[in-house]
Amino acid sequence: MIILGFESSCDDTGVAIFCSDRGVIVNLINNQSIIHKDYGGVVPELASRDHVNKISLLTKQAFEKSGLSFCDIDAIAYTIGPGLSGSLLIGSSFAQTAAWSMNIPAIPIHHLEGHLLSPLISNEKLEFPFISLLVSGGHTQLMTVNKIGDYDVIGETLDDAAGEAFDKTARLMGLDYCNGAEIAKLAVNGDPNVFQIPRPMFNSASLDFSFSGLKTAAMIKIKELQSREIFNHISRANIAASIQKSIVDILIHKSYLAVKRTGIKTIVVAGGVSANNLLRASMLESLKSLSCKVYFPPLDLSTDNAAMIAFAAYLRIKYNLINIDSLKYNLSVKPRWNLKDVNNIYI
Ligand code: KG4
Ligand code: ZN
Repeated sequence: MIILGFESSCDDTGVAIFCSDRGVIVNLINNQSIIHKDYGGVVPELASRDHVNKISLLTKQAFEKSGLSFCDIDAIAYTIGPGLSGSLLIGSSFAQTAAWSMNIPAIPIHHLEGHLLSPLISNEKLEFPFISLLVSGGHTQLMTVNKIGDYDVIGETLDDAAGEAFDKTARLMGLDYCNGAEIAKLAVNGDPNVFQIPRPMFNSASLDFSFSGLKTAAMIKIKELQSREIFNHISRANIAASIQKSIVDILIHKSYLAVKRTGIKTIVVAGGVSANNLLRASMLESLKSLSCKVYFPPLDLSTDNAAMIAFAAYLRIKYNLINIDSLKYNLSVKPRWNLKDVNNIYI
């Protein structure tokens, strides 16, 4: 089975082709960071316009690179939500028009389910149940995954998401691009022990998270360094390292508690923040003592991409969790959509 996937929930236009025999054949992404860079965040209208400009071009390139043609495609998968309405509508309209013209199914996929299942792309033998730590720009959740489509939230952020904490502190630091990858780059040369950035809710027995106090503490520290005119390349690197260490420590600690509390000895970490090298290394190291297996998506599939969307559709078909014959072409999208309600759309 060959599935063409589209992802356009925020500021990345993704087009990918997944084949059940060969895995991910092509995975193309156009990132819009440069377009939004001067605004300190994603501008929805600009994001939609750029999706329009890129989606057909990337689709053409995906076919050129793969040597496949539209006639080889069995189904099309696209992100229906959650995300920015305008951005979602571009992917949905494009995917469904293409599917309709080829008379093949158009399969709507929950963006977070795409992330959550992405570690299975390279580890299809991974067994249920497992714990999932989902850490993206908009979500931070710990879940028990009993099987595909059966997700119980056991902890989540009470305010900012982990990715958002990275993005907001990157902005406070005046970095070129407001994202965690920039903080991580700067942190390589920093010492995380020079500045103390708090770890909110670290000592609470709850599996919930809170990151807004961390951001405020970082802001106060940065302002103090700026007013003393010592916000130089050394202190910037040290602050970046401290912020990264605090966020990672919180994520690791809550994951550790989740494993201990549930007794489930497998954890998968997914979503854009799972690209963070310190998080990857520390998670492996810390959960070793609990004999817990830790899985991540391949690095290039950690942040938003269409391969995970095509793959999630493949798994839903494979395990009969979707009735392809009942799917109708429908342009509506779901900008807000709780993962616990993921199955409602397929009934
Ligand atoms: O999953 P994703 O690509 O998009 C959403 O669904 O939100 O996640 C984006 C988030 C951003 O907040 C970004 O700062 C963060 O992932 N991120 C990172 C790294 N790469 C991306 N955070 C820390 N370290 C990284 N290397
Ligand atoms: Zn995402």
